[in-house]
Amino acid sequence: MTDSASVTGRWDRSYHAPVMVEEVVRLFNGAKQVLDCTLGGGGHSEALLASGASVVAIDRDEAAITEARKRLALYEATGRFLALRANFGEIDRVPELEERSFDGILADLGVSSHQIDADDRGFSFRPGALLDMRMDRRCTATAADLLNTLDEAELSHIFRDYGDEPRASRLAREIVRRRGRKAMRVSDDLVDAIRGALGARTGPGDFARLFQAVRIAVNDELSTLNTALPLLRDKLEPRGLLIVISYHSGEDRLVKHTMREWSLSCVCPPRQPQCTCRGKPLGELVTKRAMAASPAETAANPRSRSARLRAWRKAA
Ligand SMILES: C[S@@+](CC[C@H](N)C(=O)[O-])C[C@H]1O[C@@H](n2cnc3c(N)ncnc32)[C@H](O)[C@@H]1O
Repeated sequence: MTDSASVTGRWDRSYHAPVMVEEVVRLFNGAKQVLDCTLGGGGHSEALLASGASVVAIDRDEAAITEARKRLALYEATGRFLALRANFGEIDRVPELEERSFDGILADLGVSSHQIDADDRGFSFRPGALLDMRMDRRCTATAADLLNTLDEAELSHIFRDYGDEPRASRLAREIVRRRGRKAMRVSDDLVDAIRGALGARTGPGDFARLFQAVRIAVNDELSTLNTALPLLRDKLEPRGLLIVISYHSGEDRLVKHTMREWSLSCVCPPRQPQCTCRGKPLGELVTKRAMAASPAETAANPRSRSARLRAWRKAA
């Protein structure tokens, strides 16, 4: 394999540096029609277009569509690239995709660097950033709305289940106490609540993890992924390949279990005397274990450190 750092750099933009591009292109080897479910800055799409595939790409964020269409205008002009604003959890309801199926589908989950870097998007814990975090700004509830209205048990669930926070209840109680005096509005309000509940020694790593937990809740990311996986499978041609790159342990667990379940020949309860299920696998695991970015890539792009890539091939 060629040196990852040099190949990866080729598709980087200030908007976003795509992760594990070389691995994605290699796994999709020969795919002619690819659906990129998470267009972002268009890095994966461009690499796939350069490899000879035609790409239909979606993103729920309008800014990503605008940016990537500029970048890929030449491909769009020749009809090999099409960008649509859509949520992959509703891929079965996109009129332009109704009759279409693909021999490759990619979902590179989470947020782009641009979304994190743009203060007005409110994903970051930089001082003064508004607590927004919506990928699709047509959605109504912002991070501030959730933090100001959810009850203690719901807030605790977010920090425990999406943020792996052992003292989630204490943090939830602190937020409810603070918002009684002054509504949560900017990043500093959440950072102060985290420090207040978990101690002054909490730092950027904790803020990143707990802000990510709120982001997952604002965008309903885990249940959207859960809905999306079978819909994406249905959009695959026989022998088509689904690749998912996750950056959060909950997402990766969901992808792992789903792909494993699809690869079993029988999913009947263990003691059932006769098989009554589909009785054959829907496809096969291409990656037995999740792939991680190469040391060269993680050195060049720290964001790639948490990336876990899983691939599954639909049966013939
Ligand atoms: C990690 S970035 C993708 C970067 C992209 N692969 C590239 O090469 O630049 C994730 C993107 O997925 C989008 N996204 C996240 N969840 C989505 C969903 N449910 N439907 C559509 N797009 C989604 C985000 O708005 C963001 O632009």
